[in-house]
Parts: sequence; C-alpha cells; structure tokens
Amino acid sequence: WIGALVTLIASYLLGAVPFGLLLTRASGAGDLRAIGSGNIGATNVLRTGRKGLAAATLILDAAKGAVAVLVAGAIQPDWAPLAATGAFLGHLYPVWLRFRGGKGVATMLGVVLALHWPTGLVFAAVWLLSLAATRISSVGGMSAAISAPVSAAWFGNFSLVLLFIALALLVLWKHRANIDRLMAGEEPRVGGRSGTSS
Ligand code: G3P
Repeated sequence: WIGALVTLIASYLLGAVPFGLLLTRASGAGDLRAIGSGNIGATNVLRTGRKGLAAATLILDAAKGAVAVLVAGAIQPDWAPLAATGAFLGHLYPVWLRFRGGKGVATMLGVVLALHWPTGLVFAAVWLLSLAATRISSVGGMSAAISAPVSAAWFGNFSLVLLFIALALLVLWKHRANIDRLMAGEEPRVGGRSGTSS
C-alpha cells in the first residue's frame, strides 16, 4: 500500500502544477486569476489574447494527467486509476493555490486518453463538436466530461465507469458558476467580440 500512497501523492503534486497560471505569468500577461472568469485553464488563457499560450496550457494540463497515469500504470497497472484520481484532484485542488484550482476538463481528457484511449477520443470529439456547435467553452467541457462514463460503458470498459462518473461530477461541480451564467444567458462565447468575448 506504500506504493499506492506514493503514486497518489506524486500524481497529486504533478496535477497541482498550474500551467496556465505559470505560462501567463512568465509571458508577462499578469495573474490569470484576475482576468476573465479567474479560472486557471486554457479557456481563460485564451482571454488574454494569446492563442499559443492557451494551446500550450491545454496540452500541458492534459499531458500531466496522461503522464501520471502512464508512469504509474507502467510500474503497476492497478495504480493507473489511482494516478488519474491524484492528478485530477491536484489540478482541481492544488495545495500551492490554497486549493483553488482549475475546472478539470483538460486534465480529465489526459487521464481518460491514458486509461482508455477510445473513450478519450470520444471525449475529444464530443468536446470539439459541442464547442463548435455552441461556441461556449463550458458547454463543450461539461458535455465531454459527461460523455466519458457513457462511452466507457458503451465500449464495455465497466471498471472505469464509476471513476469517470466521479470525475464528471467534479467537473460539473467546478462549473457551477458557469451553469448559473448559462441559466441566466450570460455565459460568454469563445472568440466573440470584445466585451462579450471569452
Ligand atoms: O475548462 C474550463 C472551461 O470549461 C470554462 O472555463 O474560464 O469559461 O470558466 P471558463
């Protein structure tokens, strides 16, 4: 059980690296938490106008989840879901930011791809399609998160369904301010004109 505990803690620490915040700060664009939604994810980095940085944030936030799962799984396959949980919780609740982290969509993509790539591809497709259809980032992210337990079940990978339900519920919980804005018709769209842009 010591190996499992070390896996959980190491994955948590990797997941807790706030790439969006670090990249934005390093580029001189200031503190991401004072911009747009205040979130530390790729969508909010996009609101600084730096598309390359937003893409890098998306890739790195996904990669930290995938790396945690792949490394743990290579050592002991049973530890892969534990690493997924640790990295995801690290991103959502990072100790360095007084536990105020991101909303988990990119990191969930990374862990889902690494745990079961077909479900990860469905996740990415649902994300892109719902984002293209609505141009609202939170709708894309929440739709993708909800798709993961459904498609894992559809693929017959029942051992991952409960984990993906838990991750999706946490993604929804982290989007509660977005859900309130969506209900009020006030959620900004990606790439809109300034003032309403996101
Ligand atoms: O993954 C985060 C995205 O779904 C919403 O981000 O900044 O619009 O709250 P944001």
